[in-house]
Amino acid sequence: MQARNILITGAAGQIGVALRAGFKGVYPLLRLSDRAPLAAAGPGEEVVQADLGDMPAIEKLVQGIDCIIHLGGASTENTWETILSANIAGCFNLFEAARKHKVKRVIFASSNHAIGFHRRERFIDNTVVPRPDTRYGVSKVFGEALGRLYADKHGLSVACLRIGTFRNPDRPDNVRQLQSWISHRDMVHLMRCCIDHPDYHFAVVYGLSNNLRGRWDNSNVKWLGYRPQDDSEAWAAEILAKGEKENEVSALFHGGFYTPMEFDGDVDRID
Ligand SMILES: NC(=O)c1ccc[n+]([C@@H]2O[C@H](COP(=O)([O-])OP(=O)(O)OC[C@H]3O[C@@H](n4cnc5c(N)ncnc54)[C@H](O)[C@@H]3O)[C@@H](O)[C@H]2O)c1
Repeated sequence: MQARNILITGAAGQIGVALRAGFKGVYPLLRLSDRAPLAAAGPGEEVVQADLGDMPAIEKLVQGIDCIIHLGGASTENTWETILSANIAGCFNLFEAARKHKVKRVIFASSNHAIGFHRRERFIDNTVVPRPDTRYGVSKVFGEALGRLYADKHGLSVACLRIGTFRNPDRPDNVRQLQSWISHRDMVHLMRCCIDHPDYHFAVVYGLSNNLRGRWDNSNVKWLGYRPQDDSEAWAAEILAKGEKENEVSALFHGGFYTPMEFDGDVDRID
């Protein structure tokens, strides 16, 4: 598939701003949308302020688009009301508008928190069952399931990116991030692989750099062409020298500090 017209939702956020810079001059049309204000459109750009809850606005937003990068929504753990409107209803609106207006591909920003309660001692690939660690994680499992439905039932091409840790400044900041970090340049490259690949039906991909300490295995999606160049190890000595002690629940699971939030379970029963 040759995507020419790209829409980014959540474009005013951290990842959206980095993609906007990284995609400059690459695609004929970059339509940038968020409910928050965005910087004025440059050459080849359109800027549209819209809330994902506003279905008529979202239907208008997707018109003429080949590929959507769906970043918009609550990007951290939040109240059920916020998760429900932004990440559940908003995500549904986005996929449904894409189907109605014959958008060929959707790239969904999922999260490692969709699989957060897998034990960290295990190296995991993209076939593991979902084990969300928060309401936020549940919303990402929902988005992945919706993507699967729209691929199988309606023929959309869908990629779900289980993003690790993307941050400003562009470096890992603690022990867990030595595992989960993705650099800005690797994120731009990963998104370009997902946009430019000629044909796939449905894929789940981990969004992490080439970290020596990485524990998420992308070998099932080598065909995508994602070859990350950065490695968090460059900061390992500095981070380890801080002697940080991770919370005892957090340290057990892939989801890190999201797992002990509101936790009153029994770690011994979580296999
Ligand atoms: N940054 C990371 O480390 C990371 C990790 C895993 C997953 N992700 C996912 O990637 C995506 C982007 O992450 P980010 O770090 O850029 O987040 P961010 O919070 O910086 O950006 C999210 C954007 O979505 C917009 N938004 C929220 N609710 C909206 C609504 N109802 N309608 C329209 N726009 C709305 C916000 O205004 C914001 O600009 C999110 O979906 C997040 O869950 C990010």
